[in-house]
Amino acid sequence: MLSVSIGKTRYSHDLIKDSGVFAVNVLSDKQIAVGKHFGFKSGRKTDKFEGIEYETLKTGSPILPDTAGYFDCRVVNTCDAGDHTIFIGEVVDAEVYEDNHPLLHRHEDFF
Ligand SMILES: Cc1cc2nc3c(=O)[nH]c(=O)nc-3n(C[C@H](O)[C@H](O)[C@H](O)COP(=O)(O)O)c2cc1C
Repeated sequence: MLSVSIGKTRYSHDLIKDSGVFAVNVLSDKQIAVGKHFGFKSGRKTDKFEGIEYETLKTGSPILPDTAGYFDCRVVNTCDAGDHTIFIGEVVDAEVYEDNHPLLHRHEDFF
């Protein structure tokens, strides 16, 4: 199981709620720009996947290349958390790419 906490105002929030699926792409330490691309723009106003390479596997959620791994998940439960919803997913497919090192969140890298 894996949980994500998604703000209720996010475009992704209702996509996950309505589809019942999501994927977590574990960015590599060379993918800060990818994190900024997806983390600072909303899909409500722009197609963030335009020109971006990705594949879909079991759930149909987007899986990005060159990451440190991914988790493809089906929502099995949700938990209301004020301005966020915690989506609890059953991992139906996952991969770890050990040659790539995961990107750690450092505030100064993004803000
Ligand atoms: C490093 C980073 C981590 C973030 N983590 C979350 C998170 O855990 N949950 C969330 O709801 N938003 C998070 N955000 C903010 C969303 O990515 C941002 O609001 C984005 O524009 C939402 O896009 P959407 O409207 O297409 O869903 C994060 C942003 C950054 C840069």
